[in-house]
Amino acid sequence: MELVKLSEQSDADLDALYAVPSTPWLRVNMVSTVDGAATGPDGKSGGINNAADKRVFDALRRLCDAVVVGAGTARAEGYRDLSKPLVLVSRRGEVPPRLRDATPGSVFMATCSAAEHLDETRALLGDDQVLVLGEDHVDLAQLKRTLAGRGFGSLLSEGGPHLLGHLLDQGVVDELDVTWVPRLLSGDHSRITDGPAVDVPLRLSLLLEDEGTLLARWTTSAE
Ligand SMILES: NC(=O)c1ccc[n+]([C@@H]2O[C@H](COP(=O)([O-])OP(=O)(O)OC[C@H]3O[C@@H](n4cnc5c(N)ncnc54)[C@H](OP(=O)(O)O)[C@@H]3O)[C@@H](O)[C@H]2O)c1
Repeated sequence: MELVKLSEQSDADLDALYAVPSTPWLRVNMVSTVDGAATGPDGKSGGINNAADKRVFDALRRLCDAVVVGAGTARAEGYRDLSKPLVLVSRRGEVPPRLRDATPGSVFMATCSAAEHLDETRALLGDDQVLVLGEDHVDLAQLKRTLAGRGFGSLLSEGGPHLLGHLLDQGVVDELDVTWVPRLLSGDHSRITDGPAVDVPLRLSLLLEDEGTLLARWTTSAE
């Protein structure tokens, strides 16, 4: 596997390197320290990411039709960038405060029929924006199919760790992109996966480097 220098790639080159082979396609993008911390001292991924990670993060945003994020990440990271439709995944079905005044149509809620906040979220986002896909948890394979049916064939999930665990457990991840920042951060930090026990083989398809930061593109399928 050839190590590709990120600094020698234009944005157009990055878009070509990360093009999706087919749709529907779900990729997950995560960042980690070398010793596996998924959050920095501030308890957020923003505490460990860097400029190289941001370049690929931006490329993946450009290439996707919609961003899928766990409600825990939306709450912790205060999501506000709605340049692409944002799909929240939540059992409780509650829209985080900072997204309550989002432009109509820009936020979707994927939730379940038992969700405590279902009526309130339907009133806030509109019935069409609320996807009820299961009784007590979201069926993530059905979510992928439903979003493809709405024209969102290329999906980017930005985590977090519990959602990634559930996506892997339900076999719906096609690609995992991981940035390793050249830092060690001991202490009590989440890893990039959490929740159900999974054991998923990966195939490396791209490895970029930028001043000690490694950015890998892995696939779970035979692509
Ligand atoms: N290093 C990285 O790349 C990275 C990326 C993203 C986030 N993070 C960090 O991770 C932390 C958040 O971790 P987290 O694991 O709690 O985040 P998360 O996976 O985004 O959120 C967990 C929540 O998502 C919902 N959820 C997940 N799977 C579901 C399913 N199958 N059905 C229904 N709802 C489901 C539930 O929401 P409800 O509780 O609303 O029911 C659950 O509590 C933050 O500190 C954040 O900064 C790191």
